[in-house]
Amino acid sequence: MGVIESYLDRLPVGAATPRLSLGEGSTPLVPARRLLSNLDLDLHLKCEGANPTGSFKDRGMVVAVAKASEAGARAVVCASTGNTAASASAYAARAGLGAIVLTPSGAIATAKASQARVAGARVLEVRGTFDAALECCCALAAEDGFVLVNSINPDRIEGQKTVVFELLEQLGRVPDVIALPFGGGGNLVALAKGLDEAGVEARLVAGQAKERATTYASAIRISKPAHAGEVAALVAAGRVEVFSLSDEEIGEAWLALATLEGVFCEPASAAGVAALQHVPLEPASLTVCILTGHGLKDPAAVEQAPGAPTSVEASLDAILEAIG
Ligand code: F0G
Repeated sequence: MGVIESYLDRLPVGAATPRLSLGEGSTPLVPARRLLSNLDLDLHLKCEGANPTGSFKDRGMVVAVAKASEAGARAVVCASTGNTAASASAYAARAGLGAIVLTPSGAIATAKASQARVAGARVLEVRGTFDAALECCCALAAEDGFVLVNSINPDRIEGQKTVVFELLEQLGRVPDVIALPFGGGGNLVALAKGLDEAGVEARLVAGQAKERATTYASAIRISKPAHAGEVAALVAAGRVEVFSLSDEEIGEAWLALATLEGVFCEPASAAGVAALQHVPLEPASLTVCILTGHGLKDPAAVEQAPGAPTSVEASLDAILEAIG
């Protein structure tokens, strides 16, 4: 049904808002029995990579693009480490709007750039960081007819908060802990808003890259989080705990998700799982990890995994020898 139709009464949409949808939301919630078994949690994985463009961005993007269309925009614009670009491009195509996406040159996964390109977006590789691209984008969005669809657009946060409502429906209970990656912080802000509106409380555990500017988890390679102030306020209020993780820790969690649970996410998505290793948690805590993007988004990361294929002759003997 899609996020807009499913949560009409909890979103800033009216009769004139297009009922845009690519079938986003309703993503799987999978119990994880082998992952983090040392912590003895009641652990579940919210597989947001199952959204139409392969990441959690679709929940907020569908609302932002629908509102941009309602407002008569000519094109949507965004800066992106890849997933926002892929999502904005797809929803803009669906809505009949243009999309202009600015990406840090050479720093986004090829699959994500391909998604934007195939949807007909104008893709500009900015010779600079994500932070520089975002600054350019904000300036561009001041031009007539353009609407910014980065998460500083409040419609993005509105759509993204729906993951909380969906989680509560799927679990039938309130989780004790929700763990997620922290890049720009939009998703943390959205989750806090969703919990508030649902009238429930849960600890939010956020994993960020220790080396923000250079992490191999390219989706969260962001030096200056756009929502830093709001996240700091949530931390001060005791609602969010932030942990800084090495690339090694993120990579271990990413591989463990695939090898122990069969769930293939992109490296950035594993930061929430890695953060849980740092938190004192009661045994049996009902814990949900939000896995933000699909593993196929960033197949180059697989070079870090063991088990490269072996070339063999087409004979049973050779195959038996190879498998040992
Ligand atoms: N996980 C993935 C897979 C992401 O793509 C992002 C952000 C995050 C986590 C962090 O979420 O910014 O709300 O804290 N990606 C943005 C993009 C920056 O351009 O696609 P956040």
